[in-house]
Order: sequence, then C-alpha cells, then structure tokens
Amino acid sequence: MIKETFNPNPELAANAAIKNMDEYWALQNKALEDYEGFWKEYADEKIDWLAPYDQVLDESDAPFYKWFINGKLNVSNQCIDRHLADKADKTAILFEGDRGDVEQITYAQLSLRVNRMANLLRNEFGVGKGDRVVLYMPMIPEAAYAMLACARIGAIHSIVFGGFSTEALKDRIEDAEAKLVITADGAYRKGKPYMLKQVVDDALSQGGKSVEAVLVVKRNNEEINWIEGRDHDYNELITSQHAECPFELMDSEDPLFLLYTSGSTGKPKGVQHASAGYILWAQMTMEWVFDLKEDDVYWCTADIGWITGHTYIVYGPLAAGTTTLMFEGVPTYPDAGRAWKMVQDHKINQFYTAPTAIRVLHKMGEHEPEKYDLSSLKVLGTVGEPIDPPAWKWYYETVGNSKCAIVDTWWQTETGGHMISPLPGATPIRPGCATFALPGIIAEVIDPDGTSKKVGETGLLCITRPWPSMIRNIWGDPERYKKAYFGDAVKDGKPVYFSGDGAVVDEDGYITITGRVDDVINVSGHRMGTAEIEAAVKKDDSVAEVAVVGRPHEIKGESIFIYIVLKEGHINKDIKNHINALLAAEIGNIAKADHIIEVPGLPKTRSGKIMRRILRSIAKHEEITQDISTLEDPSIVKEIETKAREA
Ligand code: WT7
Repeated sequence: MIKETFNPNPELAANAAIKNMDEYWALQNKALEDYEGFWKEYADEKIDWLAPYDQVLDESDAPFYKWFINGKLNVSNQCIDRHLADKADKTAILFEGDRGDVEQITYAQLSLRVNRMANLLRNEFGVGKGDRVVLYMPMIPEAAYAMLACARIGAIHSIVFGGFSTEALKDRIEDAEAKLVITADGAYRKGKPYMLKQVVDDALSQGGKSVEAVLVVKRNNEEINWIEGRDHDYNELITSQHAECPFELMDSEDPLFLLYTSGSTGKPKGVQHASAGYILWAQMTMEWVFDLKEDDVYWCTADIGWITGHTYIVYGPLAAGTTTLMFEGVPTYPDAGRAWKMVQDHKINQFYTAPTAIRVLHKMGEHEPEKYDLSSLKVLGTVGEPIDPPAWKWYYETVGNSKCAIVDTWWQTETGGHMISPLPGATPIRPGCATFALPGIIAEVIDPDGTSKKVGETGLLCITRPWPSMIRNIWGDPERYKKAYFGDAVKDGKPVYFSGDGAVVDEDGYITITGRVDDVINVSGHRMGTAEIEAAVKKDDSVAEVAVVGRPHEIKGESIFIYIVLKEGHINKDIKNHINALLAAEIGNIAKADHIIEVPGLPKTRSGKIMRRILRSIAKHEEITQDISTLEDPSIVKEIETKAREA
C-alpha cells in the first residue's frame, strides 16, 4: 500500500538541526551502540553543571533509574542566569492577555522577577529545599515566575490545572502535603473576569491542613474573600524583595516537580520528575522537534496545568533561550481568527496545539487562516491525542500553506518530553502518524510478555530503555510506580516502561499510535481514568452501580458515556444534570459526561466482571460482535442497547 507522504520543505531541511533521515539513523544507531555515551555527550554540551556527575546512568535499583549521578545544577540557572551574558535584552516570555494586552518580559526582567519571588518564598514563607508548593494559577507570567522561583530554591512545585474543582485541588494539596499555595484572584477569559481564589478557600476549609499560607497574585482585581494571617498579597510583598536570590545547589536526581495525572485505577497519581534529566531532554527536544533558531518566536497553546505547559511553555523554551508566547485566553475568542491574528502579529515560527483545538478552529473558520499572513510559520505541532487525517490535512494545507512541517508528538506526563515525533527537516510525514522514536528513545511494540509484534500488528507501546526525562516515582507510592508502569513485560531481563497506549509499526518503520489500551479516556486531550469518574459518581446515594466508557467524538476526540444502575426504589428524573453537577464538584467541568443513561443492570460475566467492551460498543451504536452467551444475564444487552439508542 502506498501511503500519502509529505517530504520536508527543502529550505527548512537545509538549515535544520537534523537534516535528513540518514542523520537521524546515524544518531539513533549511536544511541543503540553506546547508550550512555550518547547521553553523556548531550549532557556535557547542554547542561550548565555546577559540579560534575560521576556516572551517566544507574540501573542497579531498576525500575528506579537514576541519571547523571552526583551532578549538581539548578534548573532556574539553566533557564535564566546562564542566558544573561548574551540574551539579557531578548524577550523570554511574550505575554498576550485575553483582552489583547501584550507584555514583553526580557531575560533580564525574568531574572529579576524570579529572584524576587524566590526571596519572597524563602524569606517570608520559609519555603526551602524539598518543600511542596501547590500552584493553582491562570495563564499569566507570574505562574512561570512561581515555577522558576520554586526551582531556584529547590522547592517542588505541583501545579493543579485551574479547571479542577475544590475537591480535586484539596486531594492534590493533601497528597503532596503542600506548605504553600500560590494562586490568583482570577484572570480573564472570553472578555470577562473569572475567579480562582474561592476554590482555594473552599479546598482549605475542607482540608489541606499542611498549608501554612496562601500567596495571591492580583490579576483581575475583582473582589475576593481574604483570610487575615493566611492570605498574602503578592503584588504588595514582591516590590520590597531583594533583587538577588542565590540559587540552591540541586542534585541531578532532586525532584523538580510533581504533576498529578490519571491512571486506570484509583486516585490521580503524583508523577515525580527529577532535575537534570528532565531539563536536558526538555531543551534537546525543543531544539530538535521544533528546530528552533536564534530569533524564533514560539507559541504553545497548552495550559501550564498540564505537562505540555511545563515542558513546552516554560522549561524547554527557556532552557533553549527562546522567546515563548504565553496566552491567557482561548484561541477562538473574540472570533475564530484570534489564533491566526496572534501568529501574524507576533510572527510566530512554531505553533504547538492539540488536535481538539485544530478541529474547533477548522470547524469555526475553515478559511480563516487565509485572511492572515502566516508566512512566519515553519513548524506546526500537535499533541495529546491522535489526530485524524482530515484535521491533519487542514492544518498542513490551510494553516501551514503546505510548506510547514507537522510534528505529531507522542508523549505523556510520565515521559517528561517528546518520545515519538517527526523531525521537521528530516522526516517524510504522514497524516495521523507520529512516525519515529526520537534519537536516544527506544520504543517497541510488544506483547504483554515482551515478545515483539510483527509489522502491521497492534500491540503495547513500550519504551525499553530508561531515558533521562522519565518519571522517577509516584509521590509517596513507589509500589504503585512499579505496578502502574512496569507490569509484566521484561526485555533482556529488565522491566520495560509500559505507556498504556497501543501502537502499530508499518513496513517502513512508521509508528502509529492507536490509543489507550487501559481504562483511561482522553477528552479534548485531557486524560481521565474511568475508575476515577466512577468513584465520583458512586458518591451519589441513589447510585447502585456505574460504568464509564469513552465514546468517539467529532471535536473532543472522546466524550464520556456513563451507565448508571439506581438503587431499588430510587427514581432520578434529572439524572444527567444531577450527576454532571456532582462530577463538576468532585473533579471539574472537564469530567462532565455527554451521555448519562439509567439502565436496569450492567453486562457482567458470571464472575461479576463488567464487560466494558460491550458497553463501549453500545455507546458507539455498534453491532455487538462479542459472544454474550457467557454473561450472567445476556438479555440485559438488548435492554441497554434500547436505552442507549434513546439517549
Ligand atoms: C496520553 C498522555 C503529552 C502531553 C499531553 C498529554 C495521548 C499524547 C499523542 C499523540 C496520539 C497521544 C496518549 C498518551 N497522546 N500525544 N501525538 N498521538 N495520542 O499528556 O495527559 O499525560 O496524556 O495522551 O494516549 O498516553 P497526558
């Protein structure tokens, strides 16, 4: 079968960091031949070591891998101080507010603000090395200052996405035993102020006893509740802080941050990342995958509450010394041309967003990109979910004018940075395909027992060698870390990292991601565990049983579909609104379901296991092809199908 393939733009390839597939394979072979030597070369070249490491990789306590043993560095130095000699006046963060207000923050200004914030945290709140700081922040520069200030003094930040509810925030504060919460009164979205601080107040009134203080940035100056003694005004306190804050000498393996993410079981887990390996790969992938050049202006539309915002709005771009655009608003406000106008105004060279956003922009304004001068664009990125070929084509042809590289980057919160992605100057790209593992990343598609899959066979996507930016632990739960990521699969006697995704490799070696193979669903690029949603629904007294599945959705990729069995004698007329209100309170608006139906029972095997595959098929209105004769009550399937068709 001949697959539609687009060769790299020759102009781009001529000056690219990796110029063709021969160069790619040469790098990848180098990594395969001398894995540690490969990484050593980059670590020595890229990291501003404050004390040298004495070993590249320690695998003795696998899967608790360690990188760059005994090396010392500071990530805020890597992202700021070391650039001051030649980039002091270069714009580090280019901020555009929801209402169109623009601010340019140079590396010198960034340095001053981060130093002041670091002093504030250290001196006023006694935050020190290893302390946890929770950030519940909008997309404003102060969020980046706070991250870097934590890194400077060795505190571990844990950012909670601003769309998460009180309950979700409280859980994360408690799991991390945070000492300080940094938030804002709110910010602006779609021309209007919205509020955040109240969520923090509510979370702390219900728990989070470890929190000693709340630092509040004023953004929209709306009236907020204020608790004297606990709440502190950032804008007032920051001005009197000393302009220099000596950074903490951090070990390569000292945790840089925690970021909670959903898995197939239990509560969200605190993914723990280390310092040296993380920042090294963040910087390398910025340079390779986005093919950054000295004067480029780069824009990633993610929220800092997700890993994409960590690695590719703040840490990666700043480590690479580039100009990173941070945007408070939404790309479709005030109209479907907002994003393209911003690309034109700021002469954006790399634009990185999610397939959901691409589908929305496409649907709302198919010809909108044609109204703007998008000629600055060189690389267009996508992340978070599989991109369907029609969305890919529109992105390539209409946004990129058939001259930009599309980098479909596959990675995860746990991987810290890109893993499988085209290289703009080298890889012939194909719609909907993440293509090849990056140099140094050893990805394989295998069976649960570790046997490699053949060409064309879908299997489990695994990373069979540890890599520098990989997850180090689940905060406070090493057993869960081992169980969740290093199941049964073993390769060459070593446990391999299992991603939770399925993939298939074709005869040309191209890797296509087929989606999650576990009970995790992906709604608009937001990852949620069905178990987590089910646990929230079960908090309702009238619910006897619940099963949550994902259903393909035109824009969101997947939507949430919930089957509920009510307890005897309970009637719930407005079940959808009722349960969605509960989900909004327990998790956040992102967990609201498109479909919630009441059913008389769930399809179960005789041993009581819920047959989710059947429920997924029913949600899709698919013909049931599975054998249902082994069910405890096969007739239930017809009844559920009827209900689902009415929904
Ligand atoms: C899951 C990770 C990576 C940052 C944003 C999401 C899915 C991610 C792709 C892609 C197909 C993708 C996977 C993965 N995913 N990128 N290019 N093609 N699927 O991070 O919340 O940790 O979610 O997102 O299913 O496991 P996350």
